Amino acid sequence: MLKPRDGGVYLDGTFGGGGYSRAILESAACRVVAVDRDPAAAARAREFALGYPGRFEICEGRISTLAAMLAPLGVAALDGAVFDLGVSSYQIDDPARGFSFRQEGPLSMQMGGSGKDAAQIVNFCPESELADILYEYGEEKAARKIAKAIVARRKAQKFETTSDLAGVIRSVVRPDKSGIDPATRSFQALRIAVNEELSDIEAALEQSAALLVPGGRLVVVSFHSLEDRIVKNYFTSACGRAPGASRHDPAGLARPVQAQFQLLTKSPVAPGEAEMRANPRARSAKLRAMERRAV
Ligand SMILES: C[S@@+](CC[C@H](N)C(=O)[O-])C[C@H]1O[C@@H](n2cnc3c(N)ncnc32)[C@H](O)[C@@H]1O
Repeated sequence: MLKPRDGGVYLDGTFGGGGYSRAILESAACRVVAVDRDPAAAARAREFALGYPGRFEICEGRISTLAAMLAPLGVAALDGAVFDLGVSSYQIDDPARGFSFRQEGPLSMQMGGSGKDAAQIVNFCPESELADILYEYGEEKAARKIAKAIVARRKAQKFETTSDLAGVIRSVVRPDKSGIDPATRSFQALRIAVNEELSDIEAALEQSAALLVPGGRLVVVSFHSLEDRIVKNYFTSACGRAPGASRHDPAGLARPVQAQFQLLTKSPVAPGEAEMRANPRARSAKLRAMERRAV
């Protein structure tokens, strides 16, 4: 989808383990600027850079500030940008990061660059706010019940670990037929809240789209419905025909102006059977892409 070309400049907005950066750099004689807020990912990227002298740079920070990070590198235009949203396997699989309800670890869930951690939310957030977080960011129907149980328990003893929190959630929510762990949705919700993930996505889409040259592509892979909804809405509005205002027709109803972007994926692209077998974590991935029209 990204179609890297020789001489192009590409943004990998979510470096992680560098799989996307590597694939781009290997497919054309181009330059890649990568972003990641996680200090551990940024350290990996600095190592990675040694393999691509003069062709790869890493910016440690949040994608919501990408325009400000790219400017000092002299990047004023992009031939393509890609985002692979959410947490990385490095983050989930490291118990010390506190993302996983399957492994004992501190209640952190910080990707990097945010002030609060999950323990602060779970131990100090008012009950109604906690319920809203679980409902909105986890789409958890039992949000009120879980928030109530958390608040009752923290009065006696504050939460310190992931298993501690998962245990309380499992004690009030029964597993359903899907076999999904009852703690899954609450952990997703807390992670999104800790890292303010959703507001970052919208800002990143706007800033990267604004830098794309004609023919430049924006490609986004999301992993759950909240992320995908933001991407879908942004792409739909960027690719829709905007009304062109005039003095006689201020609403611009009669004169739709050609949209600046063209949708490349009418419906999102999902992984095939073989990819899901090889990489079960790709199961819920959805890829959307759009391209800036030539002027
Ligand atoms: C799913 S992983 C990317 C994996 C990568 N495509 C690869 O091939 O290894 C997402 C990465 O993006 C980073 N990330 C997520 N949200 C971010 C944000 N708002 N700002 C900066 N980095 C972010 C995470 O720290 C994580 O390392």
